[in-house]
Amino acid sequence: MRIVLCNSPEEAVSFTVNRIARLVARKPEAVLGLATGGTMEPVYTGLVAAHREGLSFAKATSFNLDEYVGLTPNHPQSYRYYMEQHLFGQVDMDPSRIFVPRGDLDPLEAAEAYESEIRSRGPMDLQLLGLGHNGHIGFNEPGSSLASRTRDKALTMSTREANARYFGPDETQPISALTMGIATIMDAKEILILAVGAAKAAAVRAVAEGPVTTMCPGSALQFHQNVTMVVDEDAGAGLVLKSYYREAETMHVDRD
Ligand code: F6R
Repeated sequence: MRIVLCNSPEEAVSFTVNRIARLVARKPEAVLGLATGGTMEPVYTGLVAAHREGLSFAKATSFNLDEYVGLTPNHPQSYRYYMEQHLFGQVDMDPSRIFVPRGDLDPLEAAEAYESEIRSRGPMDLQLLGLGHNGHIGFNEPGSSLASRTRDKALTMSTREANARYFGPDETQPISALTMGIATIMDAKEILILAVGAAKAAAVRAVAEGPVTTMCPGSALQFHQNVTMVVDEDAGAGLVLKSYYREAETMHVDRD
């Protein structure tokens, strides 16, 4: 796993944005795996800025990681809505090549349909990931099978608490989500995982340096051949091999 330690959250975001923008510039028909959440908001702001400067997403395809079960695509708290606000509505993506799991349909059928769409259009050239405090990737919570595929996954209390801020006092917060599985994520050709802030430090260390275990679903990424984890100083604070990662970066030849 390549670990990129950045001096600030802004630097980590800009590394991530550049990586995605360079891929799309080099391969306009790229298949992108996308994430939502607070960490990704500035990433999408950066991609929208790149689009305004000439980057086209017109030939790209995207698959989002997850969607709340029970929410319609136009529900303000749905991830489809989030994506429309932060990216899809502001760039030139072709709506027929945008895929987000359907939380408002029968979960079993929607999960199967999503996997089959990924099979026919994938694999992902680049899968973007955030990281949960508990080590989740997508909504693969601790205990998830490392061989899992898209399915309806119950959210842990810690995830529900972390996301409660997005729901009003009168809104019912979903208790489960349709999420790509860990095996679905691992099929991507390249994985880029971004984590910023001290609250992610323990999870970052467990993903990069802990044992591979279902208790930290992100640790499965250790079995992938092309993963880059981008962190700011706070999120990387617990990494044991910090100085080695920094030194390795000075020798790193960027393949893009
Ligand atoms: C969202 C997703 C989640 C988030 C994670 C971090 O599509 O898959 O794994 O990336 O919960 O969320 P934030 O960035 O809000 O801390």
